Amino acid sequence: MADSKPLPCADGDPVAMEALLREVFSIVVDEAVLKGTSASEKVCEWKEPEELKQLLDLELRGQGERREQLLERCRAVIRYSVKTGHPRFFNQLFSGLDPHALAERIITESLNTSQYTYEIAPVFVLMEEEVLSKLRALVGWTSGDGVFCPGGSISNMYALNLARYHRYPECKQRGLRALPPLALFASEECHYSIKKGAAFLGLGTDSVRVVKADERGKMVPEDLERQIRLAEAEGAVPFLVSATSGTTVLGAFDPLEAIADVCQRHGLWLHVDAAWGGSVLLSQTHKHLLDGIQVADSVTWNPHKLLGAGLQCSALLLRDTSNLLKRCHGSQASYLFQQDKFYDVALDTGDKVVQCGRHVDCLKLWLMWKAQGGQGLELRVDRAFALARYLLEEVKKREGFELVMEPEFLNVCFWFVPPSLGQQRSPNYSQELAQVAPALKERMVKEGSMMIGYQPHGARVNFFRVVVANPALTRADVDFLLDELERLGRDL
Ligand SMILES: Cc1ncc(COP(=O)(O)O)c(C=O)c1O
Repeated sequence: MADSKPLPCADGDPVAMEALLREVFSIVVDEAVLKGTSASEKVCEWKEPEELKQLLDLELRGQGERREQLLERCRAVIRYSVKTGHPRFFNQLFSGLDPHALAERIITESLNTSQYTYEIAPVFVLMEEEVLSKLRALVGWTSGDGVFCPGGSISNMYALNLARYHRYPECKQRGLRALPPLALFASEECHYSIKKGAAFLGLGTDSVRVVKADERGKMVPEDLERQIRLAEAEGAVPFLVSATSGTTVLGAFDPLEAIADVCQRHGLWLHVDAAWGGSVLLSQTHKHLLDGIQVADSVTWNPHKLLGAGLQCSALLLRDTSNLLKRCHGSQASYLFQQDKFYDVALDTGDKVVQCGRHVDCLKLWLMWKAQGGQGLELRVDRAFALARYLLEEVKKREGFELVMEPEFLNVCFWFVPPSLGQQRSPNYSQELAQVAPALKERMVKEGSMMIGYQPHGARVNFFRVVVANPALTRADVDFLLDELERLGRDL
């Protein structure tokens, strides 16, 4: 009796399902895509958490709701969410909304499959390998391995685990008991995921030896050499160096060739965290910033950042051709990876990773690439550099703006010094300046006019980091950003 009729709501009712989805798609296109990327709309609609909870009516109840009410809820979710595709969103290392990547995300979500076997993801298994091999070719490798991971932090952690396994394969079975005290090296500007990874893998954050960076934020190879010797003298065994191509705050590129020499001399695994800067490899003009990357053992590259492929799209690329990923992480679950399947079981790539189910992340980059071509993507990278240059020149020209340093990349870092602070520098100047960026951030978010990140950094007090990544940006948006800071900060 009970199962002779479809379940209530849209479940099992094709007419209701179609009506719901068509309406939701139309809300998505109108509200999230068109309004969400329009400069004449707000980038965010700030509400205090208690008010937002009320507005969203978050409580989950016993009774289901009618379609009209559900559609209103979809609108509210979009209304109160931050529009990261908006041309005034400069807050993160990703921005913009690529329609092809979005279309592919919708397809991916609709198909709702897992990347682990050819059996249930034939298209995506083949496509992932094609996309990874394209990225590897840009790194400079004609062969190798890789996998899409849930974010750059996880890609970095995989690199640490692989380097450790490569040196001490017995640790897979015997764990930390099989290991001497290990040491890995990264600069003071590296992403925090390196320390998190060391903690997560049981190495401990103390195993991360922090290498000095120069005034531009680049790792100092001489200090790397010094730290390696120091670690050895203290009885630790160095096994990996993580260099960064495009540091998170300053956008610096570590000198890979010099670092690679040090790694080679000491027999160390070289990982390059190019989560942010990897996409520069697409640009003939700027790819020299990553010279030397081809000798790395592993590379993290997030197309979801500069290329705007959509969260998440992060590749871990390996030079290895010995099936290291599978050997390190595989556990041959017989219910999933049967060896007597009717097709080539090498296509079941799920044992390369520590996850079981894995989201499909290759498709959004693939269609975007098909649409733009490598040349279109190169143009985006070059245009971002040009706009960052324009912002830099404007910052230099305007009174009240003080550059932190000449940027090498798309992170343009500066202080806004309001007129009240600029006239006479008080003994408390630094403390007062430190309060400017948080105060301006509050104003811009509450007005919804734009979003820019800020941070203290080493001895420097809070400054803005504007990230020029959105391919839809124009000079007018850059002018707006500076005008708006002046407007919001005039009376501070
Ligand atoms: C240099 C660098 N590496 C790694 C990451 C982490 O990437 P994800 O946010 O995808 O975990 C970031 C994030 O900003 C980064 O800047």
